[in-house]
Amino acid sequence: MLSAAAAVAAGTIRAPGRVPSPECPVSTDAAAPPPPRPPIRSFVVRAGRMGPGQQRALAELGPSHVLPYTPGRPLDLAAVFGREAPCVLEIGFGMGDATAAYAEAHPQHNLLGLEVHPPGVGALLKLVGERRLAHVRIVMHDAVEVLREMIPPASLAAVHIWFPDPWHKKRHHKRRLIQPPFVAALLPHLAPGGVLHCATDWQPYAEQMLEVLSAEPGLENSGEGYAPRPPWRARSRFEARGERLGHGVWDLVFRRR
Ligand SMILES: C[S@@+](CC[C@H](N)C(=O)[O-])C[C@H]1O[C@@H](n2cnc3c(N)ncnc32)[C@H](O)[C@@H]1O
Repeated sequence: MLSAAAAVAAGTIRAPGRVPSPECPVSTDAAAPPPPRPPIRSFVVRAGRMGPGQQRALAELGPSHVLPYTPGRPLDLAAVFGREAPCVLEIGFGMGDATAAYAEAHPQHNLLGLEVHPPGVGALLKLVGERRLAHVRIVMHDAVEVLREMIPPASLAAVHIWFPDPWHKKRHHKRRLIQPPFVAALLPHLAPGGVLHCATDWQPYAEQMLEVLSAEPGLENSGEGYAPRPPWRARSRFEARGERLGHGVWDLVFRRR
């Protein structure tokens, strides 16, 4: 004889509480698990018009510099950049001004930028064209998924997360990027000794970053607490806006052990 649970599973008896009626017959679908919840994203894709220069840059340089999102197919970084060089990943480059400045000052590095905001991608491509930055590539997709699906283990010399969305309201804190599960997921992609460099102009988020990064056993702080601002980190539009509002700036530089 079947146990009650096995009989429910086999469909020979109904689960308690599911009373059939002619208007609402019990279907086997009713027992299906609820669909998975959509993930909590660290961004909302904002409406934003691309200027003509950004559109032109996207049309001209997109095919060579923007890589498609290919879940489950890790990138061959040497092939993608056409050379072997330390790879720096920037997450959320915004309009790309600090990214382009970094790439220009570090021609010896390959730079992979991730951004979900299309006008930002157009803006960085425009700078790439103007400054002839042949060593920049872009994926226009959620960094959480790109890291998981496309970035080989121990392949990154550095990860830059400069001024990630601070999500000021308490009910939105769950959207903040720098949280223990994200940092744990990012860590294996850094090469040993590789650098995780974060910056923010929002003090409560800086404190959260310091707490989260300090608690990750796979990371060590490059100094004591916050780091001095590196002279090569150019001031982005977002940072400049924060300064006008009287915000401070906090850099954090950690290394993979
Ligand atoms: C506050 S802005 C700062 C942009 C830039 N770093 C700067 O300093 O000007 C944060 C950027 O991160 C992007 N972003 C947020 N979450 C992201 C994710 N999961 N993947 C890719 N980009 C993301 C947003 O679209 C936005 O452009």
